[in-house]
Amino acid sequence: MSVISGKKVLLGVTAGIAAYKSAYLVRLLVKKGAEVRVVMTPSAKDFVTPLTLSTLSKNEVFSSFVDEENENAQWNNHVALGLWADLFLIAPATANTLSKMAQGNSDNLLIATYLSAKCPVYFAPAMDLDMYQHPSTLKTFEILQSFGNTIIPATHGELASGLVGQGRMAEPEDIIAFLEEDIARKLPLKGKKFLITAGPTYEAIDPVRFIGNHSSGKMGYAIAEESARLGAEVVLISGPTSLSLHNESIRKISVTSAQEMYEQAKHYFVSCDVAILSAAVADYRPKQVAVQKIKKMTTGLTLELEKTPDILASLGVEKQDQFLVGFALETENELENAKTKLKKKNLDLIVLNSLNDEGVGFGADTNKVTLIDASNKTYPFGVKEKGDVAKDIIQIIIEKIHA
Ligand code: PMT
Repeated sequence: MSVISGKKVLLGVTAGIAAYKSAYLVRLLVKKGAEVRVVMTPSAKDFVTPLTLSTLSKNEVFSSFVDEENENAQWNNHVALGLWADLFLIAPATANTLSKMAQGNSDNLLIATYLSAKCPVYFAPAMDLDMYQHPSTLKTFEILQSFGNTIIPATHGELASGLVGQGRMAEPEDIIAFLEEDIARKLPLKGKKFLITAGPTYEAIDPVRFIGNHSSGKMGYAIAEESARLGAEVVLISGPTSLSLHNESIRKISVTSAQEMYEQAKHYFVSCDVAILSAAVADYRPKQVAVQKIKKMTTGLTLELEKTPDILASLGVEKQDQFLVGFALETENELENAKTKLKKKNLDLIVLNSLNDEGVGFGADTNKVTLIDASNKTYPFGVKEKGDVAKDIIQIIIEKIHA
């Protein structure tokens, strides 16, 4: 899955001959799973039509503060457009637009949007070779980069003037590759190894029966997806679930019993940076597993149970530099019990969810958690989709590991 997938990308198109390539850029961005909107300078419309770009992006294209041909026209809000974007790509970026960006000369919607945007800005210059090398252009590049904007350098080749040199806008495929590489490199969890457990465990009674629980795995899978989205290398040790993963980079290890989860968790814990144990591991398993299916009896059946290994506690003992996160699913004295688990199991953070809260727990799409750190500081959150709960958890972990 591309790091661009799901991103809101604002494409700024300015008046250069390379504007004809912007149609292809929109197409590639959409193919990568981005939501694309386009803002053009008024003169860019001489090079490529808004109709082409709106058809490809499936969104209205903006080029002026007010659509003068429409008497009911509304004011196009550059602030909203700038704040909407996760990423602003200006391609092609002419010398004229770049110098206005550097000076803050907001005489068109594109520049006003640029000045309002809070997201990362990339610009792909396109101009003739002498313009590209001119000291004022080089100074402009320097100023824009000092603002935190990223240049996607022009390439060498034949130019619209017939001259040959540096100034051709980078090819659309190369621009996309540049964005993907740059975004991936800057992700906050880049280079971090995450170990996550999820789902239930099944403890066999006989070949057809087991002791299990109602965990769906949704919470753990959401944490795995969020960690991977932010650049972590993720190993997900999953009990039996019907869930699938969207991010292909996640390495899933399927297990059934607490013992199998324990062995895999111990193996991957040694080399991980962060371990998050969200699985609902069975605390007990049958002492003897019947080899044949147990026949129905006229009297009752008594099963002798023994304790399963406590995976979290054993990782807490082994812990070196890893950041260890446990979950606590409580029904009473929630905060107290969670704090006790945090200390007893030598954790850095515990995620408390209480079965007394509505919209919480097994199978639900939502959860309500309170995080408690090693100094007993609590971070309470409201009821949210599990994807958003995962975001909150990972955000706190990022703050802690980068502190
Ligand atoms: O899977 P979902 O349907 O989305 O539901 C999510 C969830 C409710 C399962 C999840 O949010 C959750 O609370 N997971 C932990 C459930 C649990 O077993 O809680 P616990 O308080 O019993 O265990 C405390 C911690 O010890 C947990 O991190 C657990 O993974 C771990 N543990 C428990 C027993 C054991 N033998 N080994 C362990 O590592």
